[in-house]
Amino acid sequence: MKKIGVLNSGGDCAGLNAVIAAIVKTGYHEYEFVGFNKGLDGLLDDGTEIDLTRERVRGISHLGGTILTTVNKGRMNAKIEGGKVVGLDPDVVKEAKAKFDKLGLEGLIVIGGDGTLSSAYQLSKAGIPIVGVPKTIDNDIRATEKTFGFDSAIEVVIEALDRIHTTATSHNRIMIVEVMGRNAGWIALHAGLAGGADVILIPEIKFSYHKVAEVLKQRQEKGSNEAVVVVAEGAMPSEESGPIYKQHSASGEHKLGGIAERLSKFLTAEIPNFENRYVVLGHVQRGGSPTADDRILGFMYGAHALEQVRQNNYGVLVTWDGSKLGTVPLSEVVSGTGIKEVDPQGDLVKMARQAEISFGD
Ligand code: F6P
Repeated sequence: MKKIGVLNSGGDCAGLNAVIAAIVKTGYHEYEFVGFNKGLDGLLDDGTEIDLTRERVRGISHLGGTILTTVNKGRMNAKIEGGKVVGLDPDVVKEAKAKFDKLGLEGLIVIGGDGTLSSAYQLSKAGIPIVGVPKTIDNDIRATEKTFGFDSAIEVVIEALDRIHTTATSHNRIMIVEVMGRNAGWIALHAGLAGGADVILIPEIKFSYHKVAEVLKQRQEKGSNEAVVVVAEGAMPSEESGPIYKQHSASGEHKLGGIAERLSKFLTAEIPNFENRYVVLGHVQRGGSPTADDRILGFMYGAHALEQVRQNNYGVLVTWDGSKLGTVPLSEVVSGTGIKEVDPQGDLVKMARQAEISFGD
């Protein structure tokens, strides 16, 4: 039987196991599957391989996380913060190709986000036949309508917002909730709308601390004694030089975070008689079981990736346009620095404004 490698890399999200299970379940009669632990680093390190048998993937589709473990920004890291694409170390690429060949693999399915797919593209140019599967809670991958993991993350945020509303009301407070999404506002916009936020701050619409304070003050003057603000971690205040970073990782990468705290401090000083607190939801958004939508999307992506292997159609990413599955060349997905952003003039933003939700601009 031909051997196919499977790995996931970058941040985890709900639905990864559904993809892995779909690949194996729809292909185990024709292929042998070798899974790699530790994301793309699994192609470099020793002892990372596991046999992905039919037995191994039984009963995993509903489980969060990934049976294959993952690494965010390991040794193969083609995309650095700010969206800049850098060339992988040629020796590292050679090492990965040598391991791929040594294992006798015919192809490799790589499940990943923007960064992982950028690395995968470089590996595919170096001769590894790759099919990509779009994964991220951020939903920021171009060429596909929806990534799995997004819907599950939204559900987590909505549940949190439902709880936040009640404590905001009890205490007559402003509650500021910081959500993930990197440089895209999909999570903040969708969860903010579904979770009844009064103010939604996203990277695509530059906001001002002063404007947010003014909106909240007016709200209080009109008799609303509580408010919920959802702020994306990558949101950009006009009073700052760019988004707020909380730390640099060991690899020198910037990590977004801290905007809720900054906004909270500003509001405390500006409108002291309207108390506020902030909450950073963090990695809770990535954990737990996938929603039904993500299980199904994950299943479809996995099965469709295997179909590309069958058709010998490598160097592509599987996609979903809302009604049907497709593929696009990996080169198209990772070219330039662009991510899929919220359209500030789009219907959802327009309708939210009509419903008097403020974007702080
Ligand atoms: O890309 C997914 C994501 O969860 C982003 O929303 C967030 O900025 C980042 O990953 C966090 O990465 P890490 O798990 O390395 O802290």
